[in-house]
Amino acid sequence: MADKLIIFDTTLRDGEQSPGASMTRDEKLRIARQLERLKVDVIEAGFAASSNGDFEAVHTIANAIKDSTVCSLARANDRDISRAAEALQGAARARIHTFIATSPLHMEKKLRMTPEQVLEQAKQSVRFARNLCADVEFSPEDGYRSDPDFLCRVLETVIAEGATTINVPDTVGYAVPELYGNFIRSLRERVPNSDKAIWSVHCHNDLGMAVANSLAGVKLGGARQVECTINGLGERAGNCSLEEVVMAVKTRRDHFGLEVGIDTKHIVAASRMVSQTTGFVVQPNKAVVGANAFAHASGIHQDGVLKARDTYEIMRAEDVGWSANKIVLGKLSGRNAFKQRLQDLGVALDSEADVNAAFAKFKELADRKSEIFDEDILALVADEAVTHEHEHYGFVSLAQHSETGERPHAVLVFTCGGKEVKGESDGNGPVDASLKAIEAIVRSGAEMVLYSVNAISGSTESQGEVTVRLQNSGRVVNGVGADPDIIVASAKAYLAALNKLQSKADRVAAQG
Ligand code: KIV
Ligand code: ZN
Repeated sequence: MADKLIIFDTTLRDGEQSPGASMTRDEKLRIARQLERLKVDVIEAGFAASSNGDFEAVHTIANAIKDSTVCSLARANDRDISRAAEALQGAARARIHTFIATSPLHMEKKLRMTPEQVLEQAKQSVRFARNLCADVEFSPEDGYRSDPDFLCRVLETVIAEGATTINVPDTVGYAVPELYGNFIRSLRERVPNSDKAIWSVHCHNDLGMAVANSLAGVKLGGARQVECTINGLGERAGNCSLEEVVMAVKTRRDHFGLEVGIDTKHIVAASRMVSQTTGFVVQPNKAVVGANAFAHASGIHQDGVLKARDTYEIMRAEDVGWSANKIVLGKLSGRNAFKQRLQDLGVALDSEADVNAAFAKFKELADRKSEIFDEDILALVADEAVTHEHEHYGFVSLAQHSETGERPHAVLVFTCGGKEVKGESDGNGPVDASLKAIEAIVRSGAEMVLYSVNAISGSTESQGEVTVRLQNSGRVVNGVGADPDIIVASAKAYLAALNKLQSKADRVAAQG
């Protein structure tokens, strides 16, 4: 039987460290549930000691997820590790992931510690963590730029203390595939007790090689765990992308000879969910999950695919969750057909009440738009009103006037704590006027750090999906709104972001 490659997803921890990608506890829980559906082996749910919000998120996920191991990051000190253990209480399967930097640069300039102090701290921390949890992962941060002799001493020591997984990060994305693969192999050969732990790779994408480096770590180095994120989300240029690494190992099983437990038909829904939640749009030509990943534009390719699909396709779109059936439903479709479509798209709503709320929104949309595409349905189920986020503000109606040579004017009616209010303003453009009409009432004082519009299904009949990112008193939140009218979509996105700023349960971004 082939070896198994463990898929460790860190979208909710390393991915969230991406500036602006902060998520609320409810959003993290929704994504964690999708990762469980994907059959991810380990979900790194956060960094419990970094904030009360992250602690809560890890704790909530640890108690909701049953089929994946839930992990919390912790610096190599007793306080962080105790906090991680506390947050993980109640988990069906828990892991503590502790780390300390081992490169000369990080030890001297960042930690201001000698190598001997770092070695001792790594040893004590893993010992402490093992007393609290049977599953302990250790990462030497900036491992790839560490002195190999010193790194071998550290890794031998922590394995002797009971570390069950050794993860070797290329923290700054400096590696190239052959060198990184050989680096992992040489560590495994030189560390005398290396066979007592599972070896893992964790690569950043600064030179665009995170996936290639991770695969080299697996193939050349013998690693059996890959750390990755949905859509490659992460700080700077991001992390190794889950969908790419998984599909590479599956599609080229002839080369890798490894099993992966991922249920790939949930990949597109996971990608869409992460993109909508964080406001990080997926580029159309992104492998596996980009809108064009399976589109054949040239006549020669189209002709080839029609005659025999494997002439130009190495994977099947449906295997990763793209639907072959593009136009799905219309205004006459019933609840059962809608529910079936959700299932085909790999979307599992938490309750019948959620299905009903989504179906009501679907009917509303179908009244205004004759063809409902899969993308419309995915946008609709990501709508916070469907997923019970705290709704202090809710869109009611918009009247807006713009004419060449005149300043646009908007009147916006929305609910505020259950009461209808009306805001009015002019602005540079219709969107500006509409959002100022909201601010005329709310006076949030928030700064807008991102505004982006995306046509959901690529035509003028399509719904516009708007992301608004607001910042206020150190908090960064994303709001998403979808509607065939992009000014309404903008107002909905703005109100969704205000709802998050308003909500006490939501977390302060734990970035840095
Ligand atoms: O990139 C890195 O070094 C990390 C560690 C904390 C594992 O994310
Ligand atoms: Zn990282």
